[in-house]
Amino acid sequence: MSEAAPQLQPADFVVVANRLPVDRTTDTGGAVAWRTSPGGLVTALEPVMQERHGAWVGWPGAPDEALDPFDYDGYHLVPVPLSGQEIEDYYEGFSNGTLWPLYHDVVAKPEYHREWWDAYHAVNERFAEATMRVAGPGATVWVQDYQLQLVPQMLRRRRPDLRIGFFLHIPFPPIELFQQLPWRRQIIEGLLGADIIGFQTPGGAQNFTRITRQRLKLETHREMITLPSGRSARAKAYPISIDAKGFETLAQSRPVQDRARELRHELGDPEVLFLGVDRLDYTKGIYHRLRAYGELVAERVIDPRKAAFLQVATPSRERVEEYKRLRDDVNMLVGRINGDLGDLRRPAITYLHASFPRAELAAMYTAADVCVVTPLRDGMNLVCKEYVACRSGTDGALVLSEFAGAAGELRQAYMINPYDINSMKHGMTLAMNDTVQNKRRRMRALRRQVFTHDIEAWATSFLDDLAAVPATTAGVPRPGVGAPASRTGAQA
Ligand code: ADP
Ligand code: G6P
Repeated sequence: MSEAAPQLQPADFVVVANRLPVDRTTDTGGAVAWRTSPGGLVTALEPVMQERHGAWVGWPGAPDEALDPFDYDGYHLVPVPLSGQEIEDYYEGFSNGTLWPLYHDVVAKPEYHREWWDAYHAVNERFAEATMRVAGPGATVWVQDYQLQLVPQMLRRRRPDLRIGFFLHIPFPPIELFQQLPWRRQIIEGLLGADIIGFQTPGGAQNFTRITRQRLKLETHREMITLPSGRSARAKAYPISIDAKGFETLAQSRPVQDRARELRHELGDPEVLFLGVDRLDYTKGIYHRLRAYGELVAERVIDPRKAAFLQVATPSRERVEEYKRLRDDVNMLVGRINGDLGDLRRPAITYLHASFPRAELAAMYTAADVCVVTPLRDGMNLVCKEYVACRSGTDGALVLSEFAGAAGELRQAYMINPYDINSMKHGMTLAMNDTVQNKRRRMRALRRQVFTHDIEAWATSFLDDLAAVPATTAGVPRPGVGAPASRTGAQA
């Protein structure tokens, strides 16, 4: 990484996300380092930015970091600072204590606090300000995810010349749940500031259109929503993906192949290796999955002398109560299963609470016979696509929850209902025991889907749609078409 001049270059293409693609960390000795930020949003958008350059506006991941913009990996990073209190109220509070559980089918109970909302509003304003300063005339701005849902409208008010897209990486909930939110109207109006509002699945897009009809009494026709100003916004599904070729190439490299063999050896050369890879999040169904595996071992359907389960979990949102609880619960469950069922040479489950470099993950995907992906609800889930991309020998088996957005595309996976422990046990057993021929047939179909719908296809389809939005909206011409004028946002 090169830290360069603090000059703000006007950019034609700007991504705005809560996090920068890298986090700034300081160790106890005061040494500063940068490391890849956690989660699927960064995995997906990094290759998009490497291809298109431009600027990325986001938080550097630590409190009170007032950093100058700098260049990174061929694009420009524009850090937005957050104070310790804002991290508590905007990030851990409203984003991850209110919106995250509400949008994931209330699998944990969302909390509603007015001071969290105030912080969310204030921080969204700050992101809109920072974006406004970096976006060149008529630029394309792509706002990402649930932490920044007010930014589209805030930006449009300030900069009517911009072309604004928004993409929600997590599910958009059914109206019956969304209505709980005391600030539901502000959120919808915030999103409607965008020309295109992208969702992971058609269901999410439909939920959103329905709520604009029912709550704001707006007219909708299929994907199009007409605002009182006369402008239209489009709500459409764009299922996100990965750099499939990049993962495949990495997995085929000699060091990764060697490491995959070594990993199997370190795990005791099992006949069958199961793998789970997740952020440690209660939506991922990690607890349910390990319980199901524990039962299979207890019932001797799986022999722990012949099989191994490797579960890796990136630490995540560790100061939020529900995440602390999950961490303890998983620790206890793994301890109990291993205490009851493992033996001296091999634990039933090998659990690593840590983050790994991409090459190490590729080695795990290459080594694993069965990848187990069991979210209770997930916008998309990229881990399952990464596993498939790494299986160039067309062997391996994917067990996948029907509640992952990816289930709509990866239909040849061994599909399970994570709320039904028997369904999970059945899926894992079938994936383990199915014939080689069946596994190959399924994996070939999965790979076709992942390679023909990769991250480049995703970005291109969204950005092509955005580029096709008429340059003049709501009667206000964009620069180059006529004089720009000030305009209020999507007041509905
Ligand atoms: P989410 O975005 O909710 O975390 P996804 O499955 O969409 O879920 O994306 C998770 C991303 O994080 C993937 O790119 C995956 O490779 C990465 N990841 C998950 N677990 C780890 C880990 N233990 N170490 C490093 N990266 C991880
Ligand atoms: C998911 C969210 C992202 C988020 C990531 C990691 O992928 O959709 O917006 O960045 O998880 O979570 P964190 O809270 O660490 O940013």
